[in-house]
Amino acid sequence: MPSLVHTEIETAVKGFLIDQEKMTEVVERMTKEIKMGLAKDTHARAVIKCFVSHVQDLPTGKERGKYLALDLGGSNFRVLLVNLISNSDVEIMSKGYNFPLTLMSGSGKALFDFLAESLSEFCHTHGLENESLPLGFTFSFPLQQQGLSKGILVAWTKGFSCEGVVGKNVVSLLQEAIDRRGDIKINTVAILNDTVGTLMSCAFYHPNCRIGLIVGTGSNACYVEKTVNAECFEGYQTSPKPSMIINCEWGAFGDNGVLEFVRTSYDKIVDKVTPNPGKQTFEKCISGMYMGELVRLVVIDMIAKGFMFHGIISEKIQERWSFKTAYISDVESDAPGEYRNCNKVLSELGILGCQEPDKEALRYICEAVSSRSAKLCACGLVTIINKMNINEVVIGIDGSVYRFHPKYHDMLQYHMKKLLKPGVKFELIVSEDGSGRGAALVAATAVQAKSKL
Ligand code: GLC
Repeated sequence: MPSLVHTEIETAVKGFLIDQEKMTEVVERMTKEIKMGLAKDTHARAVIKCFVSHVQDLPTGKERGKYLALDLGGSNFRVLLVNLISNSDVEIMSKGYNFPLTLMSGSGKALFDFLAESLSEFCHTHGLENESLPLGFTFSFPLQQQGLSKGILVAWTKGFSCEGVVGKNVVSLLQEAIDRRGDIKINTVAILNDTVGTLMSCAFYHPNCRIGLIVGTGSNACYVEKTVNAECFEGYQTSPKPSMIINCEWGAFGDNGVLEFVRTSYDKIVDKVTPNPGKQTFEKCISGMYMGELVRLVVIDMIAKGFMFHGIISEKIQERWSFKTAYISDVESDAPGEYRNCNKVLSELGILGCQEPDKEALRYICEAVSSRSAKLCACGLVTIINKMNINEVVIGIDGSVYRFHPKYHDMLQYHMKKLLKPGVKFELIVSEDGSGRGAALVAATAVQAKSKL
């Protein structure tokens, strides 16, 4: 601990500092839950659902053609046009649409009408309104998939709570919204999770990629399982294809109480103010939607007890969610003993004129929260690698936390090495455009499968 940090602050963040023994325990517990999710008998009561994605083919590098893609899953909504020209040339045009926050908790109809409207605007801008291009829909929420183009929403996550969507086939809801407009021709051939897009996109260039990971607004991973182990897939014993990508939905790990030993009182406060209390326990310890709020809660607790900022609290920092997760990356990007980014963050929060020990304390709190996130993510990846029982693997990764936090990659790598059996080799690679190129690749698979019928 830095010498300038008050021991009271050290005590407050102790709960975030999980040791090797606890990490090993997390791996053991997670292994059990993943096995329960995969097995037909236990799937219904499993918390890590291990959904079948219906994607059984990894890219060959020979996929070609033009595809549309939609990307809904976090703070942004995008429409993309992807042209797979050759295995080294992929052209992507995309447009982000301003996603009104009210849509996140409004009616399902309003949400899908907005998606269809944006899609129509995009098609008209690019002169695609009369082309019936295949579309891949990256929909990053837990789906019970009944085929490549049929997915029933199991629950909303990441702050969404639109009415009338849970329990429905999301592809039909999109199609109905498109049909209500009647001004574009769209053929939704595939719906996929962002982790699956990330894996596929990375596998296009790295044939040894077998795991897709997201550490962004939410957190989740998918991996390539043997089809015979994917018991919830109808054809698990008869399918001629040896592999099946499994969307773990690991964010729900701990929803049955098995993660209490790595949670803190601050986690419990965050959980209570979300639209889905008691759900997505693992995700709430790891992902960008929650990390900033965890830091803020520790800070205001320390201010109230008089251990930081001379007990002086700004209005801004009292607001829920005002400490953005990006601030953690900013604060931790300063070199030791320097506070340029830290000063900027503090001034944005209306906290002026504080002393070096306060800044050190803030950094210490940020490090505690981000390093627990990386440790838990490392546990998740190690659980999956052990389950796959392989000695070499590439992991494709996307998400703002992984991309922008200055030490996340190194921390993940360090803890994975410590937890893995000796001799297991892995590579962590940023996967570009999972929801664009990845969605197009899954759509290409779907088109191919249909043409064989
Ligand atoms: C949430 C969603 C999951 C998604 C992840 C990352 O956990 O439930 O489907 O993959 O966020 O976006």
